[in-house]
Amino acid sequence: MNRIIKQLIFSVVSGVFVISYMNSNGNEKAEAVRSEPPVKEISGNRPAEPAAKEHPGKAVYIKYCLVCHQASGSGVPGMFPPLKKGSWVGKDPKELVLIITKGLSGKVEVNGEVYKSAMPPQAQLTDKEIADVLSYVRSDFGNSFKPVDVELVKKVRSGK
Ligand code: HEC
Repeated sequence: MNRIIKQLIFSVVSGVFVISYMNSNGNEKAEAVRSEPPVKEISGNRPAEPAAKEHPGKAVYIKYCLVCHQASGSGVPGMFPPLKKGSWVGKDPKELVLIITKGLSGKVEVNGEVYKSAMPPQAQLTDKEIADVLSYVRSDFGNSFKPVDVELVKKVRSGK
């Protein structure tokens, strides 16, 4: 009986030791991670801006375009053309609206590279989302083209 109690106490105590050892290890790791300097924030010369000031088309881009055209607009060689400088992003906004609403297939040449793939239509987007996302890609990734007006999107969409 005595032996069983001793055994019990021993296993409870050693259990507590193991748990506290594991915990302290975990904490050390967590602290080590936290104590690394946030390099980006320090090197930037202005504080991070509130999300509200970001281009409204950026969120649309992240949700509907990034998966193929990538975060930097670089695309994926041989698969998804880039949206960077030299791409079709500077074309007639009417054509761009049609690419979004109808999709695109066939030969696409960007910066000397040929893509023969297919982009599915993104017709689930509202007129405003299309205007925003096109204006965004025309203003980022090294592009500086005029924004696309929501009235134009409406017109192209209604076939007028
Ligand atoms: C499923 C992948 C996919 C998604 C999502 C997608 N695209 Fe594309 N996109 C493509 C492919 C593939 C092509 C080239 C089609 C071809 O080869 O005929 C293309 C072509 C383009 C082009 C013309 C070529 C160029 O690189 O300038 C533009 C502009 C474009 N996409 C913009 C967008 C925008 C804006 C979105 C988000 C609203 C979007 N795409 C979402 C795959 C995608």
